[in-house]
Amino acid sequence: MTQVTTTAQAPETLKTDLLVALVPQEGWDTEIAALDAAFDGQLSALARAEGFEGKQAQRFQTHTFGKLPATRVLLIGLGDKALSSDLIRDLGGHAAKAIKASRAASAAVSAPWSHATLGGDPANAARLVAEGVQLGSYRFENHITQPSKAPRLEQLTLLLDADGVADSVKRAAAVVAGTYLARDLGNEPPNVCTPAFLAEQASAIAERHGMSATILDPDAIVEKGFNLLMAVGRGASDKPRFIHLTYTGGGDIQHRVAFVGKGVTFDTGGYSLKISGSMANMHLDMGGAAAVLGAAEAIGRLAPEGVEVHFIVPTAKNNISEDAYTVNEIIKGYGGKTVEILNTDAEGRLLLADALAYASELGVDAIIDLATLTGACVVALGEHYSALFSNNGDLTQALLTASSESGDRLWHMPLDDRLRDKLKSPVADMKNVGDRWGGAITAALFLREWIGDSNWAHLDIAGPAINEQDLPTTPKGGSGAGVAVLTAYALNAARG
Ligand code: BES
Ligand code: MN
Ligand code: ZN
Repeated sequence: MTQVTTTAQAPETLKTDLLVALVPQEGWDTEIAALDAAFDGQLSALARAEGFEGKQAQRFQTHTFGKLPATRVLLIGLGDKALSSDLIRDLGGHAAKAIKASRAASAAVSAPWSHATLGGDPANAARLVAEGVQLGSYRFENHITQPSKAPRLEQLTLLLDADGVADSVKRAAAVVAGTYLARDLGNEPPNVCTPAFLAEQASAIAERHGMSATILDPDAIVEKGFNLLMAVGRGASDKPRFIHLTYTGGGDIQHRVAFVGKGVTFDTGGYSLKISGSMANMHLDMGGAAAVLGAAEAIGRLAPEGVEVHFIVPTAKNNISEDAYTVNEIIKGYGGKTVEILNTDAEGRLLLADALAYASELGVDAIIDLATLTGACVVALGEHYSALFSNNGDLTQALLTASSESGDRLWHMPLDDRLRDKLKSPVADMKNVGDRWGGAITAALFLREWIGDSNWAHLDIAGPAINEQDLPTTPKGGSGAGVAVLTAYALNAARG
């Protein structure tokens, strides 16, 4: 992990491999006047000659040829508009790319931290930039026999001195650790990351942070009546697990919440088999579980007072075999309702149904589930937004606030009651698929059947969780999407 420190030192005096200067569009050259002076004005002249104008995310980099204690300097434009949290994080991500390309082991970031483009709160801006740099520096090399010799970013220095910055840096480190954990879980291949593996990792998190842990093995799952979870996992020799960790903060508990994550460690589709193109990356179908366990790591590190958080993960592998569940089976879920299976590839909602029914018995103030639930969601919103469905306005607002603070993008979607008819079955209480239209919505409506009268929100993270292209803060693969927003939600709830 990168060591992050802050200093009031001036950028022109700092020794580092890469000095990053975030500069506003308006007056970017005066912003770097002290650096420019060391170059006799040639730094701004060179940048200008290369077309640099300080536009948002525009970049110019040069070696300093000994004119500064820093080896290289990178200018990144802030543009001229207030940036959302995700875009501020991306600036850090762009810096990470440059750090990697120049093989820097140390880097520093200077910025007009109170500037309107950065939201006007220096500590908060520093948190997002620090997160962006670290998230963008992630690599997964567990299965490469000759790990790359490229240096890792060991030291990140933020050039600012502001109230609350130590807390901000600590929060960034926790979110980064949780997101790294979520990414690692995702990126482990399906022959390593099995339901049993997720259960072991969850136990380790609980152990590290003094949380209580209940893990149900297959016998206990049958015993408990989690029949939908068992059905999904019946075909695989790696059998299901049910994970429940509980974090109890100090002080008076103001808010109790359950986070529930879909943990399908591989989704072949089952007998409703996926075509091979759609099966690729389905080891990342445990992205909801990864987000929930990553949030457990982050919250464990921050140890906020006043909140109780349940981390619940139903996990199974959706494989084919003589024992696998088939179309037309009718299964009674833990919540007492029956489901006619019409597509074994709509498996996520099934194991979530059991977990949601279980969570609804805990008497919490809110239940929030996360799942790589539908391709339809990605069709609707693209790859960068998760869908937010909820039966409660306050919960919706709290999640949208947490989203805009954290940089995990959410978009509010309708739980359209008119579509509920699509789930009607002549032989059971419901079927597990709707028709062609509104697939993300009918999936959410299916989940709603299992939450009783709880306040509930469902995040369909199918797009952001499975990252198919390199993004500034997210390399290809498992993204850890959801960790940041869940952590923000829990911290806000703790503040009451
Ligand atoms: N895990 C998939 C959803 C998914 C698809 C996530 C693509 C990420 C990228 C889920 O289990 C699934 O297969 N959903 C089906 C539902 C359908 C059978 C109603 C889908 O989206 O096609
Ligand atoms: Mn599926
Ligand atoms: Zn799935």
